[in-house]
Amino acid sequence: MTEVGPVAYDALRRFLVREVAIELGPDRQYLVSSRLRTLAVRRGCASVDDLIFSLQSGRRGDLAQSVIDAMVTNETFFFRDRAVFDALLTSVLPQLFEKRRGESIRIWSAASASGQEAFSLAMLVLDRLPNLAKRLSILATDVSIEMVERVRKGWFSQLEVSRGLPPNYRRMFFEASGDGFQLRSDVHSLVRSEVLNLIRPWPNIGPFDLVFLRNVLIYFPQQYKREVVAQLERKLLPGSVVLLGTGETMLGLSERFETLRLPQAQLHRLLP
Ligand SMILES: C[S@@+](CC[C@H](N)C(=O)[O-])C[C@H]1O[C@@H](n2cnc3c(N)ncnc32)[C@H](O)[C@@H]1O
Repeated sequence: MTEVGPVAYDALRRFLVREVAIELGPDRQYLVSSRLRTLAVRRGCASVDDLIFSLQSGRRGDLAQSVIDAMVTNETFFFRDRAVFDALLTSVLPQLFEKRRGESIRIWSAASASGQEAFSLAMLVLDRLPNLAKRLSILATDVSIEMVERVRKGWFSQLEVSRGLPPNYRRMFFEASGDGFQLRSDVHSLVRSEVLNLIRPWPNIGPFDLVFLRNVLIYFPQQYKREVVAQLERKLLPGSVVLLGTGETMLGLSERFETLRLPQAQLHRLLP
């Protein structure tokens, strides 16, 4: 199968920015061809270029979604940036539970990929704040249908459970299943998963107390980042906390947050 030509490459770049706000750099032809080759074969296309050109035809059906699923970067792992989870456990969650006085606290993992972020939080609460677990409601969303289905299954490979998950959590919260591990239902049932494209108008979700928006805006042009954060502000409760990825910032995106700098972690709290 031939390499991706300049016309097809350019068409794909425009498609990705328009549909999901992902900016592909100028020289990523190799990445495109490695991510789309299998899909091209499955769809009976003679080349990756052909597959890309089919996106422009009026009869593309579910092809656009399949290309998005193949092109997004789903890298994630359990307890990514451990210091953030420590800060949640020691200060943010106890304060939120106290403030909500008996009500549920609502958490959103936006751009959840296969769900490790959401499930890490669920396990942490079940282990360390077990009496409060019944007041936890976690929504995990992603633009990739494949990822949403993975969260709904709650099954992880050997490699995935070896990344970031403390060994005792593997024993406490997973059961061996096939050549991997199935999450136990007490963790799994705390997380609901839906498809949501951050750059489209959001459905009627929230309002949230805590939002993980990590390692996704880095792929977006500045204007889209601002629009996402503007929508987010309308889905937050007073005093809500937003988590961005390490090295990501609210600077230039919004002035409605104060940044709390903790050892190795930054939290962004919505100002009253
Ligand atoms: C690198 S993963 C980050 C996963 C997790 N938040 C973490 O930090 O470990 C980025 C995720 O963003 C999702 N994504 C990319 N563009 C998106 C969009 N426009 N709307 C929603 N999700 C998107 C991808 O499908 C992918 O699963």
